[in-house]
Amino acid sequence: MDNAAKAIAAYERTLITPDSAYDRYVKGDKKAMTEQQVRGMDTFAKTGCTACHSGPTFNGSANLPMGQGFFMKFPIFPGSVYETKYKLTEDLGRHTVTQQDADKHMWRVPTLRNLTYTAPYFHNGLVKSLDDAVRVMGKVQLNKDLSDKEVQDIVAFLKALDGPFPQQTMPRLPPTPGNLLTAN
Ligand code: HEC
Repeated sequence: MDNAAKAIAAYERTLITPDSAYDRYVKGDKKAMTEQQVRGMDTFAKTGCTACHSGPTFNGSANLPMGQGFFMKFPIFPGSVYETKYKLTEDLGRHTVTQQDADKHMWRVPTLRNLTYTAPYFHNGLVKSLDDAVRVMGKVQLNKDLSDKEVQDIVAFLKALDGPFPQQTMPRLPPTPGNLLTAN
C-alpha cells in the first residue's frame, strides 16, 4: 500500500504546468504577458484577490503545515444578488465534514491555474463563465463592484496562468516469455 501511494504521489507531482505566460513573465521575459494581462495582474493585487489567492498556485499561503488546506469563508459579504442567483449558501461547505460551527460556509481556496479548462466555477458549478466568477468574487469576498474593464483585465491575467500540459509516455511492462496468455 505504501509503495503504491508513493508511486501515485510521485506521478501526481509531475502533473504541473509551470511554463505559463505568467511563469515566463516572472522569470524575466517581460514580453510573455500582454499589456492587458499585466494590467490585470495589478488589478488582481490592488482589488485584494491576493489576500486569499497567493503563492505559486494562487491557492493560499505557502506556509501552512503539510496536509492543511487554506479554508476561507465564502461568501464573506452576505446579501448580494449573486448569493440567491447562484445559490451560494445552500451548501454548508467544510461544516458538512467536521460538524463544527466555525466551519460553516468555509471552502478550500482553489488554485487559479488552468481555469480555462475547468468551467463551471465554484463548489456547485453554477457559475458558467470566468467573467462572472471574477465579478462574484469581487462582490461577495471584497464588497467591490468591479467595472467591465477591470473584470476583462483580471480574466486576461487569469488566462496567463494557463500552461502547456506535461507530455506523458505510458509505461509498458516488458513481455515475460513463456508466461503469455496466448500461445506463441
Ligand atoms: C477572502 C478570500 C478570498 C478572496 C479575497 C478572493 N477569493 Fe477567490 N475564492 C476563494 C474561495 C474560498 C473560493 C472557493 C469557493 C467555492 O468553492 O465555492 C474561491 C474561488 C475563486 C474562483 C473559482 C475557481 C474555481 O475553480 O471554481 C475564482 C475564479 C476566484 N476565486 C477568483 C478570485 C478573484 C479574481 C478575486 C479578487 C476579485 C478573488 N478570487 C478573491 C477565496 C477568496
